Amino acid sequence: MVKVGYFQFAPVFGKKEENLDTVLSALKDIDADLIVLPELPFTGYGFSSREELLAFAEEPEESGTVFELVKLCRAHGFHIVTGFAEKAGEKCYNSSLLLGPSGIEGCYRKLHLFDREKTYFDPGDLPLDVFDMNGVSIGMMVCFDWIFPEVARTLALRGADILCHPANLVLSYCQQTMLSRCTENLVYAVTANRTGSENHSFGTLDFTGTSQIAAPGGRIIHRSGKEIEEVYVIEVDILQARNKFITERNDVLADRRPGFYL
Ligand code: ACM
Repeated sequence: MVKVGYFQFAPVFGKKEENLDTVLSALKDIDADLIVLPELPFTGYGFSSREELLAFAEEPEESGTVFELVKLCRAHGFHIVTGFAEKAGEKCYNSSLLLGPSGIEGCYRKLHLFDREKTYFDPGDLPLDVFDMNGVSIGMMVCFDWIFPEVARTLALRGADILCHPANLVLSYCQQTMLSRCTENLVYAVTANRTGSENHSFGTLDFTGTSQIAAPGGRIIHRSGKEIEEVYVIEVDILQARNKFITERNDVLADRRPGFYL
């Protein structure tokens, strides 16, 4: 059994230290194995230009934010999956990091950039892969990756037990669609979305909250409200994500016919 959860809140744009304090104090007494945070929870989401993004992005290995989160992981013996504005040389990625007691244990760079993100982030350049967390296989995807079923499928084929899904959702279809991702791949999915709004010169962004944990088969274990701040943790049976039979004769991964698909 594994205790998985998320923290849904409203990051304040550009206030890295304030947002870090919010996260550290929300997680300080949590009993969990894995907590998922939203996409870009420390910087905020809506950059007006690449120059503005570059002013906030950090190399994970040099980041005081990562240092504090790893310290928290060590103190509690848990892992965190968090969105992160990642600088890597001249590039800038909308990334997700797996952090644990031993430091940075995994990195995924968002493959499918949403709308204006294309004007300031570089598209991800790492293969979809899974990371081991004490015997549990962790797959990471970021927000708009939800609309490409290939992402969840590839992670499931690589052996993911849990899809960790930091998000800053502005459309309303994702949460329902993630239930299908859990049905067709028989995995758990933790979608950690943010709440609140950001007002920028280019417009207002309203985020949809309703973070959720879904079980293999598409059952909603828990879904938060649209506006509330919430830490939610639940114990799940990882073995349920390892049985891919949907009938006695149908294994949803082994029955695929890849020779016939694009
Ligand atoms: C999104 O990908 N943040 C909508």
